[in-house]
Amino acid sequence: MSKPILIANWKNHPESLAKAASLSLSLKKNASLYKQITTFIAPPVAFMETVSKNIKGFANLASQDIFFAGPGTYTGAVTPDILKSFGVKLSIIGHSERRALGETNEVVSEKIKAALKSGITPLLCVGELERDEGGTHFEFIREQLRLSLEGVRRKDDAGKLLIAYEPVWAIGKAKAIDPEDLSQMLIFIKKVLTDIFGREAADKIPLIYGGSVDPTNAQALLDAGVDGFLPGRASLDPKAFHDIANILCA
Ligand code: PGA
Repeated sequence: MSKPILIANWKNHPESLAKAASLSLSLKKNASLYKQITTFIAPPVAFMETVSKNIKGFANLASQDIFFAGPGTYTGAVTPDILKSFGVKLSIIGHSERRALGETNEVVSEKIKAALKSGITPLLCVGELERDEGGTHFEFIREQLRLSLEGVRRKDDAGKLLIAYEPVWAIGKAKAIDPEDLSQMLIFIKKVLTDIFGREAADKIPLIYGGSVDPTNAQALLDAGVDGFLPGRASLDPKAFHDIANILCA
């Protein structure tokens, strides 16, 4: 099995370059732990240069988004070539907080193709807004996967893709998903990916979980069958981030 994956989604934190420098430096003392797994840090773009220097050798740089085209003239856009120039290896794409700002599955699919084209690994985020007894969330996830992966059907592309299941109702909350519910959803996602890419390719796509992951629930969530985690708040706390990495290593 390949190494477990840990991706820090710093979102729009911390609030200054000085704090980003100190947060990234504080990870260095556990460099050997982060090297045992595949660790990515996704800081705000403005802090990338500094963070990238501080995590060199033990973690990879990731972005929280990517523009769907480029190079060209797009005021305000951070195009794949700019991300690559910082050394970005992976892009979080279709995070629910971006979808809430109006990003559609169609745009997400363009971004995934742009990332693949530029050699950046796309991490596609999917997740339902809510759950009901009728299980409509399964259909919702199927649609998100199908539309977000439109045009990404080649077996070669599947081998360069990661999926993060992040139920929106579990993000930024006190409690993560129930491990049993997570396990069911992972099986479902695997089935949808098999329908799209075929069994062999689908089996190789790592499935990550995000949504209130912390050191107290990481072991149970890992036992549900995930290949890694995408923590938000816990990634801003060096001790919590270290403890989650430790659980992934065991
Ligand atoms: P959280 O955020 O860990 O703070 O819930 C996760 C995410 O939004 O990726």
